[in-house]
Amino acid sequence: MTATTDVVGGVVDRVDGPAKVTGAARYPADFGFANLAYAVVVQSTIAAGRIRRIDTAAAEAAPGVLAVITHHNAPRLARAPGGLGIGPPPPLQDDRIVYHGQHIAVVVARTLEEATAAASLTRTGYDETEPLLDLDDPRAEQVENAAGRDVSRGDVAAGLAAAEVVVAATYTTPTQTNNPLGLFATTAHWDGDLLTVHDSTQGTAFARASLAATFGIQESAVRVLAPFVGGAFGAGLRTWPHVVLAAAAARMVDRPVKLVLTRAQMFTSVGYRPATVQHVKLGATRAGELVAIDHEGIEPTALEDDYAESLTRATAVLYDCPNLSGRTRQVRLNVACPTWMRGPGEAPGVFALECALDELAYELGMDPVELRLRNYADVHPQTRKPWSTKALRACYEQGAERFGWARRTPEPRSMRDGRYLVGYGMASAYYGYVQVPCQARATLGLDGVAVVRSAATDIGPGTYTVMTQVAAEVLGLPLERVRLELGDSAMPRAPLQGGSGLTAALGSAVHAACGELVRSFTELAGSPPTADTYTGILARHRLTELSADGASARRTDLDAEPGIFGAKFAEVRVDADLGLVRVTRFVAAVDGGRILNEKTASSQIIGGTAGGIGMALLEQTLSDGTGRIANATFGDYLVAVNADVPDINVIFAGDPDPINPVGVKGIGEVAIVGVAPAIANAVFHATGRRLRALPISAERLLQERP
Ligand code: MOS
Repeated sequence: MTATTDVVGGVVDRVDGPAKVTGAARYPADFGFANLAYAVVVQSTIAAGRIRRIDTAAAEAAPGVLAVITHHNAPRLARAPGGLGIGPPPPLQDDRIVYHGQHIAVVVARTLEEATAAASLTRTGYDETEPLLDLDDPRAEQVENAAGRDVSRGDVAAGLAAAEVVVAATYTTPTQTNNPLGLFATTAHWDGDLLTVHDSTQGTAFARASLAATFGIQESAVRVLAPFVGGAFGAGLRTWPHVVLAAAAARMVDRPVKLVLTRAQMFTSVGYRPATVQHVKLGATRAGELVAIDHEGIEPTALEDDYAESLTRATAVLYDCPNLSGRTRQVRLNVACPTWMRGPGEAPGVFALECALDELAYELGMDPVELRLRNYADVHPQTRKPWSTKALRACYEQGAERFGWARRTPEPRSMRDGRYLVGYGMASAYYGYVQVPCQARATLGLDGVAVVRSAATDIGPGTYTVMTQVAAEVLGLPLERVRLELGDSAMPRAPLQGGSGLTAALGSAVHAACGELVRSFTELAGSPPTADTYTGILARHRLTELSADGASARRTDLDAEPGIFGAKFAEVRVDADLGLVRVTRFVAAVDGGRILNEKTASSQIIGGTAGGIGMALLEQTLSDGTGRIANATFGDYLVAVNADVPDINVIFAGDPDPINPVGVKGIGEVAIVGVAPAIANAVFHATGRRLRALPISAERLLQERP
C-alpha cells in the first residue's frame, strides 16, 4: 500500500529556508567548542623543489601559539584509498614540494588572529627546481585515456576523407576555480580515540572512510557531520589535506581545532576545473549528416595526485554519427590537483563540440537547430540500446519556441539594436549521471512526525526539500509532518552528493524506506484494513515509534541507457565599440525526468546557467608563470554576479525515468553544460568573430581581430 498526496511537483519553498535565513542552520565553520583552538595553514611559495629549512622558532614563541606543525613533527599518515579514486597524498610527510600553494606547515593558536600572525612568522628556505608548468613541456609525463573513457567507433579517418564538408578547429578553456561562497572549513575534536569532524564535504560517509584510513583507525571511531555546506560544486568530493591537518592538529594540541581556508588558499587547496586544449574535426555530407567526429582533449593533472575526467563523454553520445573517436590525454605538471567542477568533463568538452557544430552549420548554410535535429540519436549511438527516456527533441523545439529562434536572421552581424550587435546562439547539453547505492531510515513516533535520516549531504540544491516531498508522498502525510535529517555519517550510509546522482539515489532510498514503513504499519493494523492513523496504530500496540530501512541501487533489469539532456539558447548584445558582451536573454530547456519541485529544480538550472555565463565570459584562474596563482581573490577572479545574469527562462521537458522508482534524472550538472557554447555561438552570430578561447572577454574581442 502506498498512499499518495499531491506534494511532489509544483512549487514548494525550501523547508530549510527559515533556518538558513535566520542563521539557525549551522555550517562547518559555525561549530564552536569550549577550549577551541584555531589552525592556519602555511603554503609553499615555489612550485617544485625541496624545503631546505623551515624556521618556526618565531612562530612558536608568538603569543597564544599552541603548536607549529611541519614535516618534522607531523604524525605519519596513510594515503586514503577508494571513494572516487584515491585520496590526495597526506600532508607534511616529507620535504618535497610539487606545486605552488602546497601546505607546508600549520600553526595552531588560541585565537584566529594569533594563529594568523604566527603563521606569517614562519620562514622557509627552498632548494628550487625547474617546475613543469606547460602542457607542451616535453619533459612532462603524458597519461593517455586517463579517465578510462576514451571511445571510438567506425573509422574516423575514412569518414573524414569521405566527408563533403570538414571543419577542424582548436578550442581552449582556462583553469577555472570552484568558488563556493562558504570557505571550506573543518572543525575537529578527539574524545580519546574517537574523532568527530564538522566538514565542508559532499559526503559524510566518504569523508569518514577517508579519515579512518588516513589515521589508521576504525571507521566506527570517526564521525563526520555536514548538515549544511555553503556550496561546493565538486570541491567537496575529496577529503583534502587541510581536513587531515585539522584532525591531526586537534590530536596534537589535545583540543578542538577549527581550520578555515582563506579565499586565496581555496584556489590551491580544494581543486579546480583544469584548463583544456581541444582539437575537434567534424565531417559531414552537404545535407548535414555527420559522418565523422574526431575530438581530442588535453588537460593537466597533478604530478603526484590523480584526477581524471573525460572531455569527450558527451561527444560520444550526443549525435548519431557512425565514425567517431574521443580521447582525453592528461599531462602531469607541478600544479595543485584539479578536481570535479560542475559539469566535470562535459562543461568544457561540450563547449568545444557545440562550437564546432555551429561552425559546421555556417559552413553548410544550415540552421544550427536543424543540423542537430538531422543528427538526432534516437538510440544510444555507441551501444545502440534504447534510452531509458530522452526528450532532447522536445527541448530543442520548446526551447526554440520560447526563445523566438525563428526571428534569427542567420547572417552574422545582421541583427542590430542601436550600437549593440545582437546575436542568437544555441547548443545541446548532455550529462551522464551515476546512481550509486544509498540507504535511508524512516521513523514515525507518537507525535505523528516522520523523521527520515540519511548520511547524505545537501550542499545547497534543495535535497532536504525534495526528500521531504518524496517521504510525504509515500507516507501520505502533509509536508509539515515530515522532517529530514541529513549530513551525519552515523546515519544510514549514503554516497557523495555528486555526479548529478543523489536525487535518484537518495530519493529511491527514501521511497523504499517510507514504503517499507507503510507496509509495517499496515501489517500491524491487521486485516481487514481500517481507516486508521499511524499514531492510533502505535498507541494500540503500546509502541512509541516504528522504523523502517530502505536501500536503493541502480536498476539492472532495464536494458536501456540513462541520460540527461538539454538545449540552451542565448541572446547576447555586444557593444560594437567596446567589445563588452552582455547575455540579455537565456532559455534552458532540460530533460530532467520527473521534476520533484519546480522551484528548487529551476533554481538549480538558474544557478548552473549563472556558472556557465561566468565560464563563458569572466572566469579564469591565472598563473604568473612561476606556478603562483596571481588572481586568487574575488576582486580579480571574476564570477558572474546579478548584473551579469538576465532572467533565465527554464523549461522542463520529458517523462519520468523508469530507471528509478522516483522517476528522476539529475539536473545539477546539465544546468551548466551547453551554456558557454550557446553564448560563444551567439557572440559569433552578433559579431562575425569566432572566438575559440574562453573566456570571451572584451580584451579578446578587441584584440583578436580576424
Ligand atoms: Mo558535482 S562536480 O559531481 O559536485
